[in-house]
Order: sequence, then structure tokens, then C-alpha cells
Amino acid sequence: MTEIVRLPVESWDWPCSAQDQEAAITALESGNVVLLPQLDFPLRDNERDFYFLSTGAEVKGKNISLSPGDDKVRGSSADVAELGVLRGMMVRFSNMSQALVQHLLPSYTATLERGRTCFCPLEIAGRPSSLREDDTRLHIDSSASSPTRGKRILQLVSNVNPVGQAQTWRLGEPFEQVARRYQSSLQGQPWGSSQVLEMLGITKGQRSAYDHNMLQLHDRMKADSAYQASAEQRIVALKPGGSWLVYTDQVSHAAMSGRLAFEQTFYLPVAGMREPAKSPLRVLERLMGRKLT
Ligand code: CO
Repeated sequence: MTEIVRLPVESWDWPCSAQDQEAAITALESGNVVLLPQLDFPLRDNERDFYFLSTGAEVKGKNISLSPGDDKVRGSSADVAELGVLRGMMVRFSNMSQALVQHLLPSYTATLERGRTCFCPLEIAGRPSSLREDDTRLHIDSSASSPTRGKRILQLVSNVNPVGQAQTWRLGEPFEQVARRYQSSLQGQPWGSSQVLEMLGITKGQRSAYDHNMLQLHDRMKADSAYQASAEQRIVALKPGGSWLVYTDQVSHAAMSGRLAFEQTFYLPVAGMREPAKSPLRVLERLMGRKLT
């Protein structure tokens, strides 16, 4: 069962003790969630107005995102002044997230890459979507367009909801159990397909056998309604004013409800982990008996 490990981190540059650092890395690499119930993302007054007034009408997709090295906030049709506020808020969240990881997971600093920052103003529950895109169904993260070729996907989520609404997630069974369950249904990658996908611009970089298998696991889980209902699972809540860290490529999760959260994604090469053998890449390679990248 996926555990929740609570740590008393109260600010983004908290001087984390060696004991807390140890607890964090052990929990995360073992496929557990690190809950930081006091780690609040502070808002400025003009940003707070933006939240309260936000009806979601200014959101074009599922959420608003900012990629590292990109000046442009994507997914919002807010006017120029509002976009400036949004961008400032997201850049600040991204920088604070980076600082937090440096303090809590110092051994990751050398190899950690910063990914996208997302702001999610829309209510999760009841949002129409295709089965494959429905994140209220248990899944592990794998992107059809951005292959990681084994790199870990670490997410930091902060709930900034001003009216007390929690983010609720379901957490499912451990990664190896998921992989074993669907292993016999995983199909090989058609020869040359990774080159074609890249050439057509469908993927950024080549999709490895690892990505191909992870994507199938993601799709099999979501499409399996019996599994969704019967899999070992628990409901967890992230209250406003708190944050959590989780390897979303490893922990089966489903975001069930909540609005107004920030998410920062990081990528970590398997070699940057303390225990690479626990990575989905190494677990899959062990189960399948071959290299996948
Ligand atoms: Co997910």
C-alpha cells in the first residue's frame, strides 16, 4: 500500500535535517508520497484577486502551463496584464519548488531537470474528457508526446485553494504489481515507429521501448473499468496551505477533485537516484528480461 510520509517543512528554503532528507528520499524512491502539510505557496494581493475572480473562462485547455526557458504562458486567454500576473506567479512557484528540492533532496540537485509549471484553476471533478485523458482514473504518468527514455517524473503539487477545498486523489497499488498485472498484454514497438513518430513531430525526441511500454500501462489501466473499481486503493487529501511530492511515473494515482493548485514537474535521470533499481525502468527491464532504452 502506498504510504503517506509527513514531514515538518514549513518554508521553501527550510533547513531540512539529515533525518528528514533521508525520510524523503527513501519514501519517494519506494513509491510513497511525501506530504508537507505546512508548505504553503504564499500569494500576493493581486494574485489573490486573480484566483477569486477566476471563473475558469480564461482557461483554454485543462490547465495553464509555463515551460522552462519559454516566455509564454500557454493555455490561457487572459489579457496581457493578467498574463503578466499569471506568469510572475508561475515563475515564482517554479523557483521556490526548485529551492525546496535542493533543501529536501540535495543529492538530486546535480542531475535534476526542471520541467513544466502548471496552474490548474478548473475543478477536476466532472470535467469531460476522453478515457485516455481522464486523470480521475488510476494511472501512472507517461506522455505520448514527450518520451522520457527512463527519466523519472517527480511532481510537486501545492494546493492554494482560498475557500478550504482539498485536492483529493486516489492512490493505487505499487508499480511492480501494476506492471505484472498487464505485462502479458504489452505489445512490442513496431520496427522504425519511433523514428517515424519523431520525424512527424508527434514526439519530441525518439520514443524508447520503455516509453512504449509505459504508455501502454497508462492506457491499459485507464481503460480497465473493473481494475479501476477493484484495485487496492486509498483516498488521500491535500488540504489548502499544503504541498506534496510524488513520483507520478511510479505511484498509481487519480486526481479526483479540487481546484486551484500549482504543479511543478521535475525529471531525474535514473542514475541520479539513490536506488536506481527501484525506478520503473529497472523494474520493467527486470520483469521483461531486456534493456528498454
Ligand atoms: Co497523472
